Amino acid sequence: MNVFVIHGPNLNMLGKREVSVYGDVDLETINTTIMARSEELGLVTRIEQSNHEGAIVDLIHRESKWVDVLIINPGAYTHTSIAIRDALLSIDKPVIEVHLSNIFKRESFRSNSYVSDIAVGLVSGFGLHSYTMALDAAVSIIKG
Ligand code: DQA
Repeated sequence: MNVFVIHGPNLNMLGKREVSVYGDVDLETINTTIMARSEELGLVTRIEQSNHEGAIVDLIHRESKWVDVLIINPGAYTHTSIAIRDALLSIDKPVIEVHLSNIFKRESFRSNSYVSDIAVGLVSGFGLHSYTMALDAAVSIIKG
């Protein structure tokens, strides 16, 4: 059961960035939690973060050969990137969209996602737990 987690732009700044919105947990802690939960669930999980749209497209293409479920927090690219949407559509693999914050409770431009309608589902608003919930969902998807 292979899962690939992609963190998009500015998520490397978690812990310092808009703490009132995203909390004080940094990306390293999130990744440690993802790996611990993956081990409990029997998942083989790899994680990458990129601030660059094209690099995220490349990651999606590259990992599509290996992955059973792709979990992605596209950050601000959620609301802008047709390239990432097209990359996700190009790989015939289930996608789970994740956000730390509840994107529907914030500025109106964040309510538009180029990913939600092509994802199996969306977890948004539970901070670090959005990722662990997505991992639980990945197991259900893989087990059918
Ligand atoms: C985010 C929400 C996006 O709107 C924002 O641009 C981010 C983080 C989240 O995890 O809540 O960078 O994806």
